[in-house]
Amino acid sequence: VPAQDLAGRRVVVSAGGTREPLDPVRFLGNRSSGKQGIAIAEAARARGAAVTLVAANLEVAEPAGCDIRRVSTAMELREAVADAAAGADVVVMAAAVADYRPASVSEAKLKKEPGDGGLTLELVRNPDILAELGHAPHDGTLLVGFAAETEPDGARLLELGRAKRAAKGADLLVVNRVGWNEGFAGDDNAVVVIDRHGEVVASAEGSKLSVAHAMLDVIVAQLADAPDR
Ligand code: PMT
Repeated sequence: VPAQDLAGRRVVVSAGGTREPLDPVRFLGNRSSGKQGIAIAEAARARGAAVTLVAANLEVAEPAGCDIRRVSTAMELREAVADAAAGADVVVMAAAVADYRPASVSEAKLKKEPGDGGLTLELVRNPDILAELGHAPHDGTLLVGFAAETEPDGARLLELGRAKRAAKGADLLVVNRVGWNEGFAGDDNAVVVIDRHGEVVASAEGSKLSVAHAMLDVIVAQLADAPDR
């Protein structure tokens, strides 16, 4: 049994990938399986937290012992996260949220026309859920974001993470290199965690569960440092 260092805490985790419908049978999506977010939810639960998991299109089984809110689109995820975040001690945004959605959703299945040569989709921006939380007063809630980046160079990757942390107003940011065979979908992950000052406060590599525990070690330390949380 791990240390119950999150006992009495309420932790919200988003996981999985949003899907943005085009018509009744098609969507724009991404390759997030939900594994990393679920591992964070499970690890927090094991350390004594009351956990709400906002689950977007998981490709693996839901974890036991969590309050699960199922969503599909970014707009649904936004509403569920906003609702769950009220009064939470920690919010971790591990979900892969679509930055754009189709400008209109067809009620009928889109059909190809003879000789049309192709199809152009018009997309509109989705709200940035992490930035909305980060730029609103959130005293008492430690806000943890991710930066999923394909940048191969380690120093530049860290710079992208620092810029994203600042842009979104997150208290901690987990820099996650991703690619065809990295980050998304697999059982292992490698991350670097940076704080409000852009300092590297942890790095972890291994199973998504071990990465989750390393993140929670930082989160527990930050909760202890800020008595108002
Ligand atoms: O699910 P797995 O298969 O295990 O893969 C795990 C993962 C790689 C998906 C996960 O570890 C991860 O990196 N999640 C964040 C994915 C992402 O959307 O990254 P981003 O750099 O595009 O977004 C930055 C942050 O803003 C994220 O915390 C994201 O949740 C949030 N965001 C992004 C867009 C948006 N419209 N609203 C948001 O809140």
